[in-house]
Amino acid sequence: MDTTPRIGILSAMHDEIDALLKQLTNVIETTKGQRTYYTGTLFNKEVVLVFSRWGKVASTMTSTQLINDYNLTELIFTGVAGGLQSDLNIGDIIVGHDLFQHDLDASPLFPKFHIPLLNKAAINTAFSEDLLKATETFLAEFKQHIDSSTIATFKLEQPKARIGTILSGDQFISSSAKINELLREIPQAQCVEMEGAAVAQVCYEYNIPFSIIRTISDKANDNATLDFPKFAKEVASLYAAGILKAYFEMK
Ligand code: ADE
Repeated sequence: MDTTPRIGILSAMHDEIDALLKQLTNVIETTKGQRTYYTGTLFNKEVVLVFSRWGKVASTMTSTQLINDYNLTELIFTGVAGGLQSDLNIGDIIVGHDLFQHDLDASPLFPKFHIPLLNKAAINTAFSEDLLKATETFLAEFKQHIDSSTIATFKLEQPKARIGTILSGDQFISSSAKINELLREIPQAQCVEMEGAAVAQVCYEYNIPFSIIRTISDKANDNATLDFPKFAKEVASLYAAGILKAYFEMK
């Protein structure tokens, strides 16, 4: 076990890890259970970085190993998500306030979405106001970080950030009917992805402060046409690095 207090950074995209690795110094790499954990110094903070992998089971395993092998002061999760609210555009950012597993339904034993034995459905995050401030700091100058042709390709004119509810489930959502179903049940939901609520539960059970930022990469609907690899490499990864830098500078 590494006893140095560290901020854990879990990223749902390889490109985010690559962008952060470019800034990481004093790197030590450890591979276990098909995951590679990178410790080092990032923007003057001691961190440990790891790719979450995709889906709730994979990200649960990664975060559990991370918490058990490192002395985490907090865990920050970065990645992309499908927007659920009609005013959200590609390139906007949701800072998680609370997270639900939208595909968890043990009724009639427990109400829909309730996590058995925890007696709650939503898991709250920590430090969301601070992360929102850092995100707004980054967005105020994002044109310095992102190529103008990329801004044009994805129409990233005025990206906005807000704090809100995030849904997670083992499903890539790409239908308006499914969006409507999710919003009927959880009307305040902002975006949907495949890991966050699982990692939030792990952190809750281990008592580790958890926070999450998700960049909207698509609108989770039938006509979400997006060059996903290009978005991950040229937008989401730079957002993650820029926001973490602003956040660490505030700490
Ligand atoms: N991650 C990014 N977009 C998503 C979507 N539409 N559904 C689930 N996870 C996602």
